[in-house]
Amino acid sequence: MPKIFFVVSGEHESLPFSELEAILEAENVSYRVLEKHTQVLVLEAPKESVKIIADRSALTRICAVEIFRCRAEYSEIIEEAACSPIEDYIREGESFVVRVKRVAGSSPHLSTIKLERKIGEIILSSVGKVKVNLFRPEKTFFGVITDDYFFFGLRLAEILPKPFVERRPKKKPFFHPSAMPAKLSRCMVNLARAKAGDLLLDPFCGTGSILIEAGFIGCKILGCDAKRLMVKGSLRNLTYYGLKPNGLVVADARKPPFTYADCVATDPPYGRSATTMKSTTKEIVYETLQVLAQILPKGGHVCMASPKTIGLSEIGKELGYKHLESHFVYVHRSLTREIAVFKRE
Ligand SMILES: C[S@@+](CC[C@H](N)C(=O)[O-])C[C@H]1O[C@@H](n2cnc3c(N)ncnc32)[C@H](O)[C@@H]1O
Repeated sequence: MPKIFFVVSGEHESLPFSELEAILEAENVSYRVLEKHTQVLVLEAPKESVKIIADRSALTRICAVEIFRCRAEYSEIIEEAACSPIEDYIREGESFVVRVKRVAGSSPHLSTIKLERKIGEIILSSVGKVKVNLFRPEKTFFGVITDDYFFFGLRLAEILPKPFVERRPKKKPFFHPSAMPAKLSRCMVNLARAKAGDLLLDPFCGTGSILIEAGFIGCKILGCDAKRLMVKGSLRNLTYYGLKPNGLVVADARKPPFTYADCVATDPPYGRSATTMKSTTKEIVYETLQVLAQILPKGGHVCMASPKTIGLSEIGKELGYKHLESHFVYVHRSLTREIAVFKRE
């Protein structure tokens, strides 16, 4: 199996790595983690994993098959570039470009422009009958400097965050201040190990951000919200994107009219912009997780967000779930979200 390195978003230190591994797990791809550095994950994984990640990840940016790796020093990089089999990755007559990026703060003594130029010259002189095309190259060689290392390979995919920006809450026909950004919603769907054809439930659907992202990866979607206004708004947003829910009803998440879901991704109310309707967030989270255990199959996953202060992971464990991971996402001075992933045992 080839070595593939993934450059991920720097907006959170652990979520992008977990999202990537959760996608591979959901899609039944076997892989092995070889190295983890700031914003770079190196895997031994089949080439098909690149398309899978590119099709559904919110937080991965670049996927490249590794040609060489070394310490982030000019002499080592140039030596490795000169003796690596780069000719195996480009054919006679093809055009190429070399792009080098630095993960913020890594090896500041290296110039990315100098490296691009120098490696480009090595490819031109060692491969022969290939040409540089800066704007529409057939092959893009990609290097990344992270911590004290340099990874170099052939870029197989570049994932742009633009579609998520275009689906931000304010761009949707129905807006509410409690809405979750599309990127985080997709990430939560991925952490819930959802895959195409699965039935994903969001029992606090709000404006439908999570259901929309699940619908985009081919899940069947099921939602409820205690507020009629939100259910109507959710349906309006889903319809806008051409998505049809399998069920969307006004209901209390603690007494849902559903008997089955393959997985759950959800963001219960915090009692700020979204009402907790006279209960506390802690009570709602406890009672909802309790009822979800009856709906999910054994091995089914729940990805839930809540304010850090309620101790989400402890509640899940107390209810008999296996707690797989928690990520803490700073929102503002008085709110840090815990995003926890549980597996029903
Ligand atoms: C944080 S918002 C969800 C935001 C949603 N993820 C989105 O992106 O729009 C929480 C939602 O839970 C709803 N809610 C509050 N208590 C509820 C309950 N007991 N059962 C179901 N929904 C409830 C609120 O009306 C609100 O729409």
